[in-house]
Amino acid sequence: MVDAPKYIWLDGKIVDYEKASVHILTHSLQYGSGIFEGIRAYETKDNSAVFRLDDHVKRFINSARICNIKLGYTHEQLFSAILNIVKKNMLKRCYIRPFAFYNDPNIGLSTEGKKISVSIAAVPFGSYFRNKDIGIKCNVSALRRINPSILPTQAKASGNYVNSILASIDAKNQGVDDAILISNEGFVAEGPAENIFLVNDGKLLTPSKEANILLGITRDTIIKIAKDRGIEVEERQIHKEELYTADEVFFTGTAAEITSIISIDSRKIGDGRQGKITKNLEKDYLDVVSGKRPEFDDWLTKVY
Ligand SMILES: Cc1ncc(COP(=O)(O)O)c(C=O)c1O
Repeated sequence: MVDAPKYIWLDGKIVDYEKASVHILTHSLQYGSGIFEGIRAYETKDNSAVFRLDDHVKRFINSARICNIKLGYTHEQLFSAILNIVKKNMLKRCYIRPFAFYNDPNIGLSTEGKKISVSIAAVPFGSYFRNKDIGIKCNVSALRRINPSILPTQAKASGNYVNSILASIDAKNQGVDDAILISNEGFVAEGPAENIFLVNDGKLLTPSKEANILLGITRDTIIKIAKDRGIEVEERQIHKEELYTADEVFFTGTAAEITSIISIDSRKIGDGRQGKITKNLEKDYLDVVSGKRPEFDDWLTKVY
């Protein structure tokens, strides 16, 4: 197995990683008009498996539908192209990034007649957060999270992430690792690219869809794993103050996996270390994605 990717899937062809480039004036680069997906593959005992590939492909297609982008590929074609590019790069543990974009350098917002390209990259990838092992510090962003009256929050649309990126920049400038965003209605929403969970008296609490969150696949996985462990899960609107008084808080996301949040707005969460329930759920999650929990094997698609 090699470490560096050699190839990218672009418009149905395998091209050299270094040569997969676009014009500086590309519509989606200039205006954020692309849609993308974030998927992980993990090493299993004698293979490698993509986690919840079917769900990720469905969301990619739905993002395209929401944004009126004609992909030109079926679910089956995208599914096998993803497996193919992981194989071509001989990767086991990696991050996979499908992307659909207007590949056209003509200036102007109009998308009429503009070429749509689809690319799929697969790259080696470790932890998303530098401080993942000890837990991260967050602030509550002064920026409100986008909502569907402004941008389609259920689509992984590139432009949506300007809101996320600005909140993250502010957080880093204030000396913390990342931001937590509040919905336009004033309730806890999500991280820049993560869903959020609170633990209180042994129960899980997470914002409901009314907070206009992206209904993450890791969020759904944790809800199912927790229920399997007999842990009660409540989905409801959450006030900002509840973050400060929670016993444990953690982010979930394909990239972030399960990441403990140990302080928020300079207030220590619990005893300021990764909590017991978070630790157990993280272990369960890593066992599930790496094929150590056969009852969840339906979520794994073998690569080799
Ligand atoms: C805004 C946002 N919320 C939540 C998530 C977590 O979603 P998932 O667990 O499907 O990766 C992501 C990442 O895709 C995201 O971008």
